[in-house]
Amino acid sequence: MEIARRKILIATSNPGKLREIQQMTEGMSIDWLALSDIEPIDPPVEDRQTFAGNAAKKARYYSRHSGLWTLADDSGLEVDALDGAPGVHSARYAGDDASDADNNAKLIKALAGVPDQRRTARFRCAMALANGRKMPLSTEGEIEGQIIDEPRGENGFGYDPHFFSIEHGCTTAEMPAEIKNQVSHRGQALRSMLEDLKRFIQFQEFTRRTHE
Ligand code: IMP
Repeated sequence: MEIARRKILIATSNPGKLREIQQMTEGMSIDWLALSDIEPIDPPVEDRQTFAGNAAKKARYYSRHSGLWTLADDSGLEVDALDGAPGVHSARYAGDDASDADNNAKLIKALAGVPDQRRTARFRCAMALANGRKMPLSTEGEIEGQIIDEPRGENGFGYDPHFFSIEHGCTTAEMPAEIKNQVSHRGQALRSMLEDLKRFIQFQEFTRRTHE
């Protein structure tokens, strides 16, 4: 019996994210679309207090506007000594037009005088899959680390050069992309999402067949 192919929009314009998801779902009868593949939609305001809240808002918003099932994510850095800041404000920590360098400079200044053992931090990522207003699946991932003053490594983006993983003995900017994708907050949230999605599609196929 033919399994119905389905289209899912990824609320990203980042071709790297799209490619990675396509590779991880080969054989799953899904055609992934990026925002650049559909009519332009103005982005929503990301004004929720949690990563999960923003991911859900984005997924529902783009799903309602596109009429497609939509996968969205939201991520950022939480530093314990800063009561979880920059958190959901990670991209704009040093201001609306802040560069990665501006955000990192503000972070290191905010942690001046804080000893190593109190510089614990984590990257967190939340993902949500929406069908209109309904949101059948949501997952989260995180990676623990410590903030270091001197940047290390040339890979990655954002806070990576200052985020040292004790478990891996390097910053996330020193990890090759394949390793970071495996161990990162985003990689973990995405893998859980794809496992849940596989089960969800199998269940839908099963109920469809039993009603035929
Ligand atoms: P977004 O969820 O992709 O919009 O990420 C929000 C912000 O969190 C980014 O602009 C970065 O500052 C920070 N961030 C999220 N994930 C990472 C990461 O893997 N490395 C470094 N910074 C990150």
